[in-house]
Amino acid sequence: MLDGEQVLIEKEDVGIYRDKKLIAITFDDGPHAVNTPELLDFLAQAQVKATFFVLGSRLEYYPDIAKRIVAEGHQIGSHTYNHKWLTRLSAEELIFELYETNRLIYSITNVRINALRPPYGDYNDDVIALSHMPIVNWSIDPEDWKYKDADRIFHAVVEDVRDGDIILLHDMYETSVEAAKMIIHHLKEEGYTFVTVDTLIRARQGETAAGEVYKHIGNLSS
Ligand code: NI
Repeated sequence: MLDGEQVLIEKEDVGIYRDKKLIAITFDDGPHAVNTPELLDFLAQAQVKATFFVLGSRLEYYPDIAKRIVAEGHQIGSHTYNHKWLTRLSAEELIFELYETNRLIYSITNVRINALRPPYGDYNDDVIALSHMPIVNWSIDPEDWKYKDADRIFHAVVEDVRDGDIILLHDMYETSVEAAKMIIHHLKEEGYTFVTVDTLIRARQGETAAGEVYKHIGNLSS
């Protein structure tokens, strides 16, 4: 691609998802040098699209992984620069946390992102007003960072899951990547289709909205 050329992500035609059970699987805190590529290999083989909320501070070290996330059709979003509690920052710090990561993602991938996952799910009116992006939290959290046990993470997710859920995992941990493989395999057999957060929102609500906070996106017709 040419330097400075903006990549226009081809929006999936969401019509094909009508009447389907949809799930968005999301990965925070990466990229990780080993586990993220391992996960990407699996997702490619499984033909599953996921969403990666990356940290600006780590992007500096792993720009090629960010490029690969985009090239393989996944959604990339911001998890801020330094992973701070956004509601505890000065306006100046908040602006840095938000804008520096967006700038970095754009400079590396040429993608203008359209999703923020605030660290700890922590946000307030200032975060909403300054981010100019949809805020994407989650509806299923197996606390994979705490348990580091693939079986336990797998069961915590699949026993609670329902249509329209957004699953939170972290591609920093080998056990989480292992759990993600089990979750994807199982839920595909249960008839779920995995989509990016952007596709999930558009399939269910027509379009994404800056300042909106998303956690679970059920089917309007159900
Ligand atoms: Ni995080």
